[in-house]
Amino acid sequence: MCSPIQELDELRKNLPTTFIAGPRLRRNVATVSIVGLGPVGLTTAVAFATQGHQVTGIDIDERRRSEVARGEPPFYEKGLEGGLKRALRQKRLKIVDRMEDALRASTIVFLCVGTPSKPDGSMDDGPLRDATKSVANAWRDGKARTLVVKSTVLPGTVESVVRPVLEAAGVPFRIAVNPEFLREGRALEDALRPDRIVLGVDRPGTARILRALYRSVRSPVLVTDVRTAESVKYATNALLASKVSLANELANLCDYFGVEYDEVLRGVALDPRINAQFLVPGVGFGGSCFPKDVRALVAAGTANGYRPELFEAVLALNDRQYGRAIALLEKELGDLAGRRIALLGLAFKGNTDDVRESRAVPIARDLVARGAMVVGYDPAAMDGFSKLVPDVRRAKSVEEALKGADGCILQADWPAFSRLTAKDFVKLMASPVVVDGRRILDPKKMKGVRFHRIG
Ligand code: UGA
Repeated sequence: MCSPIQELDELRKNLPTTFIAGPRLRRNVATVSIVGLGPVGLTTAVAFATQGHQVTGIDIDERRRSEVARGEPPFYEKGLEGGLKRALRQKRLKIVDRMEDALRASTIVFLCVGTPSKPDGSMDDGPLRDATKSVANAWRDGKARTLVVKSTVLPGTVESVVRPVLEAAGVPFRIAVNPEFLREGRALEDALRPDRIVLGVDRPGTARILRALYRSVRSPVLVTDVRTAESVKYATNALLASKVSLANELANLCDYFGVEYDEVLRGVALDPRINAQFLVPGVGFGGSCFPKDVRALVAAGTANGYRPELFEAVLALNDRQYGRAIALLEKELGDLAGRRIALLGLAFKGNTDDVRESRAVPIARDLVARGAMVVGYDPAAMDGFSKLVPDVRRAKSVEEALKGADGCILQADWPAFSRLTAKDFVKLMASPVVVDGRRILDPKKMKGVRFHRIG
């Protein structure tokens, strides 16, 4: 542990490095490098640059580096392209090819690499280990830096994976975990205005460095130890995923009881201990986070002698929930063989082109297995989805997908879909059977449509 004086000296060395005289305020500028330019890393890089920091970005994928350096985000994220172009133009963000160049310019290094699932659901710490090794190898100038893990990592990972690599390299370091709570589609907005900043630190001085970095952000800051911050991320995602499965369980029961879920929710949400957010039922949760993180938690608990049965149930319900949308189609149309079904929304939710764990995948595969002809449309995810389910016909517009269809499933909450009217369905479809898997349309306005939703 450093003495408070040493910590202050460290702080002075690390921050501020430069002052910018803005029109109203003088801001501290930190020099930050971001390792991994995926959705989290790139958004974080653009957000720090927007806040006036000097950012260097690096990724092992050469193509990704050159796309980002040209101002082209390799994925769709609202506002990101404009922010990236601005950051590059203002020279607040620089993309480099060598880790040494990334580190030379920075006092704070963020690890934003993926933590994918292994086939058994457990977390694969390989990319994190590799990234830490390449940082440590390039970090030979004896300068003390703060390594911040933003990747989602299971409690204990920093201590068991990251710290030993840095210690073995013999480089001076501070270490922290700063989980992200970015929602795809609103990631930049969330990065610029987070609802909280969680800093898991090895010592108080590290917290001061990171507090200074986030100085211009008006959000509550929680300082914890490293393992607690790692846990906050998993606990958040596990609770949110559980809320979705709870909503689906309740909605499924509402169907059996013949009651309207929305009315039940209204009554329930008046209880201040329960709020209505994340209780929208439908075809289940997808995306790169909830399924992976809950699976990792189940695998880690089980490996440690505790079987998290509740989270197992959350996943099991989610895996089969899409089937209810198909059952509703079957109820209206009977055998689906030979039927033309429009599948609207192929991404895991609206406003993203991410198809990872999208519920559109099992829906499409199941429909195809039943002999249906599936015509899919998504404003941003056509190519990604075709790679996963090539049997689905590609429509160029909502209208083309709906034209002549016997049934339709709405799978993602794109704003364009919520503007669809009963008239559109009646005019375009061979038989206007619509299953709203995301509760985006108002059933009261669906006159003439055989309209269903779960709950
Ligand atoms: C989620 C979390 O919301 C973020 O806070 C977190 O940072 C991120 O994971 C992550 O760990 O990186 P994201 O995966 O972008 O963000 O998506 P969400 O908006 O949370 O939606 C997840 C899934 O749940 C979607 O398929 C969505 O349609 C579904 N969902 C969500 C419901 O079915 N019902 C709801 O009420 C809410």
